[in-house]
Amino acid sequence: MVVNHKKTRWDPELYEARHSFVWQLGEDLIQLLDPKPGERILDLGCGPGQLTAKIAESGAIPVGLDASPAMIGQARQNFPQLSFVLQEAGEMRFQQEFDAVFSNAALHWMLDREAVARGVAAALKRGGRFVAELGGRGNIRQIEDAIERVARRHLGDNLPAKQTYYPALGEYAALLERHGLEVRSATLFDRPTALEGEAGMENWIRQFKAYYFESVPPAEATKAIGEVVEELRPIAFRDGHWVADYRRLRFIAVKI
Ligand SMILES: C[S@@+](CC[C@H](N)C(=O)[O-])C[C@H]1O[C@@H](n2cnc3c(N)ncnc32)[C@H](O)[C@@H]1O
Repeated sequence: MVVNHKKTRWDPELYEARHSFVWQLGEDLIQLLDPKPGERILDLGCGPGQLTAKIAESGAIPVGLDASPAMIGQARQNFPQLSFVLQEAGEMRFQQEFDAVFSNAALHWMLDREAVARGVAAALKRGGRFVAELGGRGNIRQIEDAIERVARRHLGDNLPAKQTYYPALGEYAALLERHGLEVRSATLFDRPTALEGEAGMENWIRQFKAYYFESVPPAEATKAIGEVVEELRPIAFRDGHWVADYRRLRFIAVKI
């Protein structure tokens, strides 16, 4: 059976239990967004909705959009009073409806980046802002290198296509500008990120990179993930905890 990883990848339970740092670290991005009462704001790739709810606390009116039925289901359960839409970002068709588009830790999963940038630009009112953070060039390089070394041992040259891309600052700025989004500020920075507990790296791989091992039987996948963890231990396990080599690209762009 061929598993459609795109539709099945996200596990909201593991995400909320072990990876709450994703939205906790995204909270200061909301300060950059600076939502105002009454503004309509699209939260692109909203996941289980914690940052959508933060935006709502300001008095703004957010809409969360996500392509994962499991994530949208969880968001609706967490925040029944808020609006959530189940949709692929590249397929959205909003027309000048939003004062701002916000996105945390999601754009690097959206491989149809031209369609997404076009959709964001169309969704914004003139003068509206796009405030976002995503994985930037070099993000989790040591983790991904270790995963690919181990995956090659198990799969030969048949590695699955990458499901993320981590753009350089200039590359992403050019994409936004091609679609009429003027980049007012952008920064690429290292943000080493502590993972929770002894199983932190294993949980992280299972949440975000399990697709590498989905074509092998579950027992072999577990063994392979264990091998990745051991490859990483000397470089990424420090003072009793795991650290992921995150690098983020954060920007503010305005629809002109
Ligand atoms: C790491 S989570 C971040 C969730 C949330 N923004 C947060 O900060 O907690 C990434 C989210 O992007 C969503 N996503 C990935 N690709 C997408 C696409 N093409 N269209 C819409 N959502 C997508 C996933 O379903 C997932 O919920």
